[in-house]
Amino acid sequence: MISLIGGTGPEGRGLALRFAMAGEKVFIGSRSQERGQQIAQELGQLAPSASRFISGGTNEEASSQGDVVLITTPYEGQKDTLEALRPKLTGKIVVSVIAPMVFERGHARAVEVPEGSAALQAKSLLPEATVVGAFQNMSAEDLLVPDKSLDCDVIVCADSAEARQVVMALAEKIKGVRAINGGGLANAHYVEELTVLLVSINRNYKIHSSIRITGL
Ligand SMILES: NC(=O)c1ccc[n+]([C@@H]2O[C@H](COP(=O)([O-])OP(=O)(O)OC[C@H]3O[C@@H](n4cnc5c(N)ncnc54)[C@H](OP(=O)(O)O)[C@@H]3O)[C@@H](O)[C@H]2O)c1
Repeated sequence: MISLIGGTGPEGRGLALRFAMAGEKVFIGSRSQERGQQIAQELGQLAPSASRFISGGTNEEASSQGDVVLITTPYEGQKDTLEALRPKLTGKIVVSVIAPMVFERGHARAVEVPEGSAALQAKSLLPEATVVGAFQNMSAEDLLVPDKSLDCDVIVCADSAEARQVVMALAEKIKGVRAINGGGLANAHYVEELTVLLVSINRNYKIHSSIRITGL
């Protein structure tokens, strides 16, 4: 089971949809059980053939049920959320999708994280879990259009080679995605900040950009 903490926002919904379309069971977590269930139902309507793979409820249920748990809350919500869920996330692979940024006068700016990145903050908050950074560059808008081919790379950073491999295999279940070994979790910082640049490119070109690494 793939769970999403804060899975009711566009990014969590988009990733959940794509995993369900690939035949993976997904669980949409929320601070409200009703909202988690409602979003799960709505996603099922968007892709009826995948609806049997999608369920939803609370973030606590998501944390208990997921083998791999994605964090798709805003950066501001991560600390309190993970502190509360820590016991339920023991032994799990936890994937940080967070790209910390703020918007000022319509422009995105990276937020400085004391630990170095959202992924490293998650690692410090969850010493009994294995934290991986991935999917931070994927546009929610594109993920949420079921017919849209994604054609992009997902850079996966982790200190555990085994957990990195699990998440790389998961990423490649999404049609059109190639997973790239991004090395240790310290490198997640660069991937998170790249999203700030992509937001600016999106604004300049009126697109939903993503990344491709050449030369591999
Ligand atoms: N949107 C994109 O295109 C995109 C692309 C790449 C990466 N990301 C990253 O993915 C994450 C999610 O993005 P999003 O646009 O889906 O975010 P969002 O809609 O702002 O938030 C996602 C969900 O998080 C929960 N949440 C909101 N504030 C919270 C708080 N203070 N504490 C705990 N939970 C809270 C809400 O769910 P409930 O109210 O149901 O609990 C909300 O539906 C962000 O960290 C972002 O940097 C987004």
